[in-house]
Amino acid sequence: MGRPGGGRCAADIAREPSPEKKRCAGLTSLAGGGAKGLHGSLGDIHCAPVDPDVSGKMHVSTGSEPPGRRDAVRRLEERVPYRATSLASAYQGIDRLPVSVILDNVRSLYNVGSFFRTADAAGIETLILSGITGRPPSRQIAKTALGAEEAVRWEGRDQPAQIVGQMRARGYEIAAIETSLRAVDLFDWQPHFPLCVIFGHEVEGLGPELLDLCDTHVRIPMLGIKHSLNVATAGGVVLYELLRKYRRLSEERGAAECQV
Ligand SMILES: C[S@@+](CC[C@H](N)C(=O)[O-])C[C@H]1O[C@@H](n2cnc3c(N)ncnc32)[C@H](O)[C@@H]1O
Repeated sequence: MGRPGGGRCAADIAREPSPEKKRCAGLTSLAGGGAKGLHGSLGDIHCAPVDPDVSGKMHVSTGSEPPGRRDAVRRLEERVPYRATSLASAYQGIDRLPVSVILDNVRSLYNVGSFFRTADAAGIETLILSGITGRPPSRQIAKTALGAEEAVRWEGRDQPAQIVGQMRARGYEIAAIETSLRAVDLFDWQPHFPLCVIFGHEVEGLGPELLDLCDTHVRIPMLGIKHSLNVATAGGVVLYELLRKYRRLSEERGAAECQV
């Protein structure tokens, strides 16, 4: 099993300053430091309390600093890290999206890197790279992952069937993301979490043996002249739809608990 960061365990990685923390810290220092109480058009920005020591307020200034510094602050104001905005509060109860992803025989390392980037953003559990799918370290993976390959937990497996069996035994629903005839529409699908979704080769798709092992087949609607999307694009569509569904489920559960 590969471990992001060359042998570091998840706990080590969790202890390190997150990219979010570094970005928040950068914003604070450019703004003159949260403690100085400067005020700007954004008002108070709150870092999401993922990391206790960055959960304080930051005050961004557009006031009395030199023009160059003001422009830099304004540029940062337009690119505030998502988790430093009030929009992020809807995800505060979600530590991880209980979804693992298998990439089986994905031949392009750029597509693999792109999956790492999306996997990090959507907060999935594990990215499993099976068959011929390339693995870090790789210059091409790093080019599209842009560092996300260091943050996402991943495993390399030669035999996807074996991991499918293990995940099913642990209570995971297994879903093939494929353009098969028996597939349900992504937006109608009611997944059961925890979930394992499998994506296939750029041209051949998923093989029949693996398709047969899956509980569900899921298809992304295609309204144009093409039958399929690029596999990494399909990954983005599916993982964000799953995040949307899981967030709604969490909200409904929260509301039900409030009523008890
Ligand atoms: C480019 S597709 C492979 C060709 C595809 N089997 C076809 O019928 O054209 C590569 C992978 O992307 C995913 N994919 C792309 N578009 C999809 C869609 N509309 N629905 C479901 N999966 C899709 C699947 O995981 C598929 O194995």
